Amino acid sequence: MDKNFWNELALKWHIAALAPMDGFTDSAYRQVVKWINSDVVCFSEFYSADWIVHSKFLANSVLPHNEIEKPLIIQIFWKDPEMFKKAAILIESYWIAGIDINMWCPAKKVVRSWHGSSLMINIDTAFKIVEEMAKSVKIPISVKTRLWWENWDNLIDFAKWLENAWANLITVHGRTYKQAYTWKADWTWIYELKNHLKIPVIWNWDVENHDDWMTKLNWLNWFMIWRKSFWNPWCFLPWDYKPTLIEILNTMEKHSKILIELKGRKGSLETRKHLVQYLHSFPWVKNYRKKLVMVEDFNQVQSILQEIKIEFSSFLDKKINEIIF
Ligand SMILES: Cc1cc2nc3c(=O)[nH]c(=O)nc-3n(C[C@H](O)[C@H](O)[C@H](O)COP(=O)(O)O)c2cc1C
Repeated sequence: MDKNFWNELALKWHIAALAPMDGFTDSAYRQVVKWINSDVVCFSEFYSADWIVHSKFLANSVLPHNEIEKPLIIQIFWKDPEMFKKAAILIESYWIAGIDINMWCPAKKVVRSWHGSSLMINIDTAFKIVEEMAKSVKIPISVKTRLWWENWDNLIDFAKWLENAWANLITVHGRTYKQAYTWKADWTWIYELKNHLKIPVIWNWDVENHDDWMTKLNWLNWFMIWRKSFWNPWCFLPWDYKPTLIEILNTMEKHSKILIELKGRKGSLETRKHLVQYLHSFPWVKNYRKKLVMVEDFNQVQSILQEIKIEFSSFLDKKINEIIF
């Protein structure tokens, strides 16, 4: 990919992004999302730049990816420009489409050690990080940030600094650092920001699905979804798409298979949390919850799914929202 990657994609009005999410947006889930809508651009979970540089084993477990995940964006966090630069060079060598810098994370231990959203108030370092990375690799550099620190007065100046340091895209989460995880979404400042930048801007926060985004997009380039996408990768499809029961069961099977193939025993344990959630709006999920949270391997997943298919064979082609007790 070259530095025009985001600009060229932004010309496609319907593009959506899967948000980075620690512990969730791993290769298996990204493959599921792309399988349902190949136009979605996936962001990885965040990884420490230091960790990527110093552990070949760890880098080799998170950077190689499946062809279907392309174009894949890897998100990293850290605090000093030199480490970011080294990580960027290494990441580029794994055929990654772009690197995203986490200036979003508000966790206390992250901010106290000058990582994540603390970079919003450490503007010289933030500028240097983007500039050093942009100079060192051919792939685009993007930043995921917040409305700013305490209020949004400095959002536009901050974003312009990043643009001047050669950032190729900015994603803005509609809360300040101080608002952490609460507060109602306010779109005004994101729309205003777009008026001041040449690079594409992604809005992130409280987007329900593709149709919701269409009403909010205005002149922004993209939207990014996290919470509403999980266990509902169909949210990226238009017309308020609702999957049928068989689509959900097949997706559960696919997700588990990839997860367990990639992570072995760890994958079997992780798949438990996903399986139950996929069926959260299925009225009879409670009959299967106990079994699903105890699965040990893929064979067990398959046999439980088969049981559900047999017991509810007359519902398989029904949309999940039309299945009523
Ligand atoms: C548990 C959790 C982990 C997250 N991990 C990351 C992360 O690694 N990197 C990041 O930039 N954002 C992360 N986020 C934030 C999401 O990407 C997103 O900005 C946030 O959930 C708001 O979008 P939504 O309203 O669509 O959920 C995380 C959020 C949560 C709740």
